[in-house]
Amino acid sequence: MNARWIPIVVLLVGVAGIVAACCCDGPFCEIPACDPCAPKCDPCAPKAAAPVTPPAPPASAKPAEPVAPAVKAEVKVPTIGKDVAHMHNVHQITPRFVRGSQAETEEDFAALAQMGVKVVVSVDGARPNVEDAHKHGLRYVHVPMGYDGPTREEQVLLYKAFTTLEGPFYVHCHHGKHRGPAACAIGLMADGWTAEQIVGELKRAGTAAKYEGLYAFPATFQTPTAEELAAVTDIPEVAPVAGLVASMILVDQGWERLGAVRKAKWTAPPDHPDVAPRHEATIFAQRFREMARLDEVTKAKADMLKHALDSEKAAWDLAEALGASPVNALGAEEAYARIEKSCTACHKQFRDTPTGAAAR
Ligand code: HEC
Repeated sequence: MNARWIPIVVLLVGVAGIVAACCCDGPFCEIPACDPCAPKCDPCAPKAAAPVTPPAPPASAKPAEPVAPAVKAEVKVPTIGKDVAHMHNVHQITPRFVRGSQAETEEDFAALAQMGVKVVVSVDGARPNVEDAHKHGLRYVHVPMGYDGPTREEQVLLYKAFTTLEGPFYVHCHHGKHRGPAACAIGLMADGWTAEQIVGELKRAGTAAKYEGLYAFPATFQTPTAEELAAVTDIPEVAPVAGLVASMILVDQGWERLGAVRKAKWTAPPDHPDVAPRHEATIFAQRFREMARLDEVTKAKADMLKHALDSEKAAWDLAEALGASPVNALGAEEAYARIEKSCTACHKQFRDTPTGAAAR
């Protein structure tokens, strides 16, 4: 990392201490250290640290001591819509909540710990890397949720995590734009945010409008009852995922590798020389075959199986095009586009809206 930011960090922290600057009064002005939309956030309070770009000081350098009295359990280094280590879209919403994309490597957890994060919450289906998180004193909470919004059970679990564990929290899904911000909304509502404020926050996060359930649930959200909360006896660090979600995670991993193969003009990608394009496509096709055997797919009310079989067929066509010598690039492009279309079509019909989920 870059040492030239250290003097700037120190300078900004000093300035923030002297000038207890008041932030803007527009309803959605983005002050990373203190979101004025947050009811519990006093926009005129002196800040522990001023916004810093790029956000994280070098891992080796300690962040400058805050000048204002440090408020307990706050994130120390404000970040805004940035890349931090391998994480993207990292954004601090309030001193207790930071959202962003998947934290994967030890470097990511080191950066989060450095920021002052204590708990990492994942709502993605992939197994969280709890081992590396623990090395940096971070606790994980794993509540995989769908794109149609959190179920009541998931809402209660997240609410309990956000109200009983000591933050600050880093909340992530895969890309950090859709499910993660929606999950974070539960913590923000526990802190007093209104449904309208949440909608503004989802828009700022870039949550796509097609995920109607993510936008809709805050309006009907009910604070969990004491009984509901008492019924939650375990807040899992790693939740078991099975069936369709597990199958989708494998498909998605293969899809990412095939995307890299395509970028490398249908050869082994330079950063993954071990990937054999045809073999990769074959495994990918088999993943769809396994998916097509799941009860969740064969017993769906609408014709979900057809989408799975379309994807499988296109994946076999891709494997064949990649197995030709020389590679049939045109055929590969055509098959790739068909797979992509079928992911989108199936998600649109069965994943992305509450009515879609009901069709399963
Ligand atoms: C036959 C329908 C179908 C096809 C085809 C399909 N998906 Fe899915 N996918 C779903 C459904 C339904 C879900 C939601 C599962 C749930 O939350 O219970 C899902 C969820 C996902 C998820 C989220 C997993 C998580 O962490 O919760 C990812 C990522 C994903 N799909 C990627 C893909 C990609 C990439 C493709 C194409 C290469 C694809 N899917 C093709 C139906 C499909």
